[in-house]
Amino acid sequence: MSRLQNKVCIITGAASGMGESEAIAFAEQGAKLIIADLNLEQANQVAEKIINTGGEAFAFQVDVTQFDQLQQLVEFTLEKFGRIDVLLNNAGIFDKYTNSLDTTDELWDTMFAINVKAVFHLSNLVLPKMIEQGSGAIINIASIAGLVAQMGGASYTASKHAVIGYTKHLAAVYAKHGIKINAICPGTIRTPMTAKMLETRPTDKIPLDRFGEASEVAELAIFLASDEARFMNGSCITIDGGYTII
Ligand SMILES: NC(=O)c1ccc[n+]([C@@H]2O[C@H](COP(=O)([O-])OP(=O)(O)OC[C@H]3O[C@@H](n4cnc5c(N)ncnc54)[C@H](O)[C@@H]3O)[C@@H](O)[C@H]2O)c1
Repeated sequence: MSRLQNKVCIITGAASGMGESEAIAFAEQGAKLIIADLNLEQANQVAEKIINTGGEAFAFQVDVTQFDQLQQLVEFTLEKFGRIDVLLNNAGIFDKYTNSLDTTDELWDTMFAINVKAVFHLSNLVLPKMIEQGSGAIINIASIAGLVAQMGGASYTASKHAVIGYTKHLAAVYAKHGIKINAICPGTIRTPMTAKMLETRPTDKIPLDRFGEASEVAELAIFLASDEARFMNGSCITIDGGYTII
């Protein structure tokens, strides 16, 4: 039996990197996917890959900073599948290690609009349906930058700490409705977001002495989305090769 059989999953930022890996891996486990991303062309390509291997997926263009577009995303999902089992808040951007004194209001606001406010808005749009169903899972892609200081600049670090705090709030309040809410804190993972930086970055501070792969994060996300994780709630799980333990 597939681990996510017939689970309806919305993944934001699913056109690239970790989101793409998660979408493909979820589909391999029997999930029905909404590939939500700003980049429609790439989202369509991911949906096609899934459909060509016998899965079910729809691409949906959304700018997660636009509340009305998030509303349309949820309406579209319900129209296509009638329910929502998993929301994977994955879309995010990076601040290229910009220190506080160099951070403009514009950078700060953009970072929080995409990395935090969109997570709040979309969770609020999906929660009523999950409460009605009496089941669901929300997985927020935070970062080890939400736990320690040296993995981002001012706005990225603050935004990912906020995602972790918000995850704990959701988990404390809504678990009684049968909804489990957790966060994943990846270390450095090879994706289009990091590809350039990783060309010159050493791995010797990572006990496993390598960067992570998007598919490895996807495997953790499958677990959190599945019924195997039924007692997981409010956890913020690091997947970083041991980077944050030293
Ligand atoms: N790559 C890493 O090392 C790493 C580590 C920790 C956490 N993360 C987090 O993982 C998540 C995915 O990162 P990635 O490395 O796969 O990045 P990526 O750049 O490869 O993919 C991000 C996706 O989000 C989409 N996106 C960006 N802004 C959007 C918007 N306003 N509306 C809709 N979609 C939008 C992009 O189009 C893209 O498809 C992010 O939240 C990131 O902060 C990444």
